Amino acid sequence: METVILQRKRIHVGNLILVNAAHGYVEEAYGNLEPVQRDGPHILLERRAALLLSGLIEKINGRQGIVPVSGWRSLQEQQRIWDDSLMENGRAFTEKYVAIPGHSEHQTGLAIDLGLKQENIDFIRPEFPAEGVCGRFRTKAPAYGFIERYPSGKEDITGIAYEPWHFRYVGIPHAMIMVREKLTLEEYISFIKDFPYGEKTYVFEKEGKGVFVSYLKAGPEDDTVLAIKESYPYTVSGNNVDGFIITQYGAKV
Ligand code: DAL
Ligand code: ZN
Repeated sequence: METVILQRKRIHVGNLILVNAAHGYVEEAYGNLEPVQRDGPHILLERRAALLLSGLIEKINGRQGIVPVSGWRSLQEQQRIWDDSLMENGRAFTEKYVAIPGHSEHQTGLAIDLGLKQENIDFIRPEFPAEGVCGRFRTKAPAYGFIERYPSGKEDITGIAYEPWHFRYVGIPHAMIMVREKLTLEEYISFIKDFPYGEKTYVFEKEGKGVFVSYLKAGPEDDTVLAIKESYPYTVSGNNVDGFIITQYGAKV
């Protein structure tokens, strides 16, 4: 058995952190930011998200048709976008389409806005249609760890209007589980609490192997102890709320 100490501040770090109006982004670390493309505008994403985005666009032959519009943003940039939008578009529009500064997923480096390539691309609401190359991207996105973060019909849960252009990297297999269970990130973070680590796991089967997902609540002290029983590889992500999501790979179902 392996024992790992998780410091409380790690709640705020990882692919599954929930960042919304209720849960601000805690700037613990950006991870490593990398440009999403070699040429064109300088748009950054967290390293692994950038790598998978690039693989996905390559896979669907989308280099000519899909344009990255906005990736990582500093707090200052989010504030500038908010202020400009308030002035140009008014409060109602801004609250629907721009996250409150300090509460934007773009600050994590895990979110990307994409647009269909055309002459004029709207920065806040780029066009990203359901069909064609954008449709192919949408279909394949979960297998590469990306979700449509602000779906239609879930506006009351996400607090943001339908944004078909905004994708969030949460990692594999979480994106696929969220699609299968029809859950937003808000709902997934709650859903997974029904699988407390050491008692119950959510099993995702992939190529005959299992991926086991469970939740570990952070303890009242600064440190939480994670006792890993099986010697299979695992990852830990904070949920940015109150604990951790443990993902263990490769164990037989
Ligand atoms: N457009 C999304 C909600 C943001 O500003 O982060
Ligand atoms: Zn966005």
